[in-house]
Amino acid sequence: MLVAVGSDHAGLDLKQEIIKLLAELKHDVSDYGTDTPLSVDYPDFGEKVAEAVSSGKAERGILICGTGIGMSIVANKFPNVRAALCNELFSAKMSRMHNDANILVLGGRIIGRDLGKEIVRTWIDTGFENARHTDRIKKISAIEKKIHEQK
Ligand code: RB5
Repeated sequence: MLVAVGSDHAGLDLKQEIIKLLAELKHDVSDYGTDTPLSVDYPDFGEKVAEAVSSGKAERGILICGTGIGMSIVANKFPNVRAALCNELFSAKMSRMHNDANILVLGGRIIGRDLGKEIVRTWIDTGFENARHTDRIKKISAIEKKIHEQK
C-alpha cells in the first residue's frame, strides 16, 4: 500500500528508520519531509500527510514529532482522518482493530528506534475488526458531516 510519512525535526531520525522498514515490507512511501535536522513547525508537515490520507492519495499515513501530540491535533482536523497517537504496541494494535486508524502518530522523543519500528510493523499488519466497530466509525463520519454542514 502507499503510506505517506512526515515528521518535524524531532521525528526525523525515527522517520528515516521507518521509511527503510516500509521499503523492506514492500510498501510504497511518499515522504513529505522534513529532510534536515533544522527546527521546523510540525503543522506544516502534519498538514501534508493528513491531506494525502484525507483525499485518498495515500491509504495510510505515519506522522512523528517530539511527543506525537502536535501532529495528532493537526491530523485529526482533516475529514476522513482517524489519527492515533500510539507510543506502545497495544494501542497500535487496537487503533487498527477497533478504530480503523488511518494515520499512526509517534513521539520521536518518547520511544526508541526499535520500539518505533515494532509499532509500525504491528500497525501496518493489523486489520480492522469490522462488526460492531463499523457503526462507531460511521458515527464519527456523521459527526464530521454535521460539523461541516454547520460552517
Ligand atoms: C518540537 O520542539 C516539539 O514541540 C514538537 O516536536 C512536538 O512534540 C509537538 O507536539
